[in-house]
Amino acid sequence: KNVALLAGGYTGEYEVSINSAKNIADNLDPQKYNVYTILVDRNRWLHETAEGAVDVDKNDFSITLNGEKIKFDFAFITIHGTPGEDGKMQGYLDMLGVPYNTCDATTSAISMNKAYTKALVQGIHGLHTAKSIKLFKNDVHDVATIAATLKFPLFIKPNNGGSSVGMSKVYNAAALPAALEKAFHEDDQILIEEFIQGREFSIGIARLNGKITVLPATEIISSKDFFDYEAKYTPGVTNEVTPADLTNEQNELVASIVKDVYSRLNCRGMVRIDFIIQEGTGDFYFIEVNTTPGQSANSLIPQQVRAMGMQVSEFYGLLIEGAL
Ligand code: DAL
Ligand code: MG
Repeated sequence: KNVALLAGGYTGEYEVSINSAKNIADNLDPQKYNVYTILVDRNRWLHETAEGAVDVDKNDFSITLNGEKIKFDFAFITIHGTPGEDGKMQGYLDMLGVPYNTCDATTSAISMNKAYTKALVQGIHGLHTAKSIKLFKNDVHDVATIAATLKFPLFIKPNNGGSSVGMSKVYNAAALPAALEKAFHEDDQILIEEFIQGREFSIGIARLNGKITVLPATEIISSKDFFDYEAKYTPGVTNEVTPADLTNEQNELVASIVKDVYSRLNCRGMVRIDFIIQEGTGDFYFIEVNTTPGQSANSLIPQQVRAMGMQVSEFYGLLIEGAL
C-alpha cells in the first residue's frame, strides 16, 4: 500500500512533527507499506527525493515519480496543530475518499479547541475541569475582571495550540497583559484557566483490532515551573514515568474516564488525554485531548506502547489496518 506520511504544518510544532514523522517512517513495515513523507506548508506539499522535490497533485492526492503516477491509499497524518490536527486535512481527505489514521474532521476541529472540548466533556463521571474564561482577540481584555473572577496562578493558553507554544503561567494581575499578548500572537482566541496543584498525567487510548485499548498512563514530573515546550522536548528536563505509579483504583477510574472522553467526542484512531490528579482531593482534572499526539521515539505514546509490551511498529500497523 502507498502511504502518504503527512508532516510539517504551519505552526510552532513544525519540528515536533518532523521528528514524529521520522519515527513513524522507521516503524512502518516496509514489506506492507511504501511510505512517502509529504512535507506540508502553506504554499506547497512536497515529497523530497534524491533528485529533488516533487509537488503533490492536490486534485487526486498523488505524486509523479520518474513518469509514474503514485496515488496514495492511506494518509498517516502526523501534523500537530493546523492543518493536520484541526480537521482541515481530514476534510480534504474525506472529499477524496482517502482513509486516514486520525479522528474525523468534526472531532479533530472540536478537540483542537481547548474550550470547546472542555464544554463537551462536562458531566463525565469522575471528571472535573478547572475554572476558566475564554477570550477572543476582539474582546475587551479587562485584567481586573479576570483577576477578580479566577484565582491565581493562572494558565494562559492559545485555544487551538499545542506543545505549550504561546502559553504562560502567571502569578499576578501585573503579569497578565504580556501573557495575553503572547497567547494572542498564536491564536485569536485564548483560554485562561486556574492552575490545579497536583500530579500531571497523560494517557493514550486507541482502537486496536476493533477493541478500545487504554494504554498505560505516564506521569510527567517536570523540573520546570510547568511542562512547557523546553520541558517537553529537552532530554533530562522532565522525568516521564511509564507506567505511572497509580493505585489499581486510580487506574480503573482513569481508564473509565478516558474511554468516556473517547466515545463522547466520537474519537477514532489514537488520541492522548492529559489530566491532573489534584493534591489533597484526589480529583481528576481534565486538561485536553490531543488527536495527533507526538510520535518521536521518546514521545509519550511510543513509551506507553512499549510499556504495554507491544512493538511500536505493530501498533502503527494496527492503526492503519483499523482505519482502512
Ligand atoms: N501537541 C504535541 C505534539 C502532543 O500533544 O504530543
Ligand atoms: Mg497538547
